[in-house]
Amino acid sequence: MKHFLDLHKTDAADLRHMIDKARAMKTARHDRPKGSPDDDQPLAGRMVALIFEKPSTRTRVSFDVGVRQMGGQTMVLSGKEMQLGHGETIADTARVLSRYVDLIMIRTFEEATLLEMAEHATVPVINGLTNRTHPCQIMADVMTYEEHRGSIAGRKVVWAGDGNNVCASFIHAAGQFGFDLTFTGPETLDPEQKFIDFARARGSDIKIERDPSRAVVGADLVVTDTWVSMHDPESAKERRHNQLRGYQVNEALMAHAKPDALFMHCLPAHRNDEATSAVMDGPHSVIFDEAENRLHAQKAILRWCLGV
Ligand code: CP
Ligand code: NVA
Repeated sequence: MKHFLDLHKTDAADLRHMIDKARAMKTARHDRPKGSPDDDQPLAGRMVALIFEKPSTRTRVSFDVGVRQMGGQTMVLSGKEMQLGHGETIADTARVLSRYVDLIMIRTFEEATLLEMAEHATVPVINGLTNRTHPCQIMADVMTYEEHRGSIAGRKVVWAGDGNNVCASFIHAAGQFGFDLTFTGPETLDPEQKFIDFARARGSDIKIERDPSRAVVGADLVVTDTWVSMHDPESAKERRHNQLRGYQVNEALMAHAKPDALFMHCLPAHRNDEATSAVMDGPHSVIFDEAENRLHAQKAILRWCLGV
């Protein structure tokens, strides 16, 4: 069973193949209408369930459109409206859904929910974000970097702010795609050591630098994300803003990076908190390419999972 659960659990050669496939499929579509089918229809006759226990704009729409472009069908399910939200176990839900659909994508809170779904499903399961990781996003981000600047191998990525789920998958990607990553943020919001250990064991130089201006020196790519994630309690907001204010990505900070450095943010953003609009809409920014590439990258992930 080819589940797509996390970047460190998927073979690096397979990840590379998916990025290359995604780029080829994107090129093949040129600027066709979004709703038009691809020339080949590898998902014809396939049904995909998209389960959301948290809000989503990009993940929901890009998976839905991607499946349809490849000839498949989708059903979007809200966790709250399913029996899952009324005490039916994840294991039973996985077994039941596997009788109806060919693939399950789930966005959930606890990683344990994703893992239990994968353990009991007899169809592939894709991680559409958990509290801990967001692998589909980083596949789109690697694709986006390479579209603009060529191979990401050996490059320096700087993550500024909260060492959250998106940061975790970036660190996994450093190990799998062979780039270096410096985290800059307060100690209390450091990424888990486990993620860092994985990337270091694969030969990546993973650094922690508390001074954001020093961190971004020589950066090829500067990345940030919201200071308060969907799973963080609202009560954490004020404290996090105080802790993270000094890590805002603004033009002054970007001036320390390489002149041709890119800026990324997975979105949704809180403009002028974690990044200023001047940076988000400025010459370094590729944020809307990242959003678009969710579509193409996930189409390649779906094909890999289904072996089509
Ligand atoms: N980046 C991302 O996953 O966005 P959504 O929450 O809108 O899906
Ligand atoms: N870190 C954010 C990412 C949203 C796509 C969150 O989990 O809310």
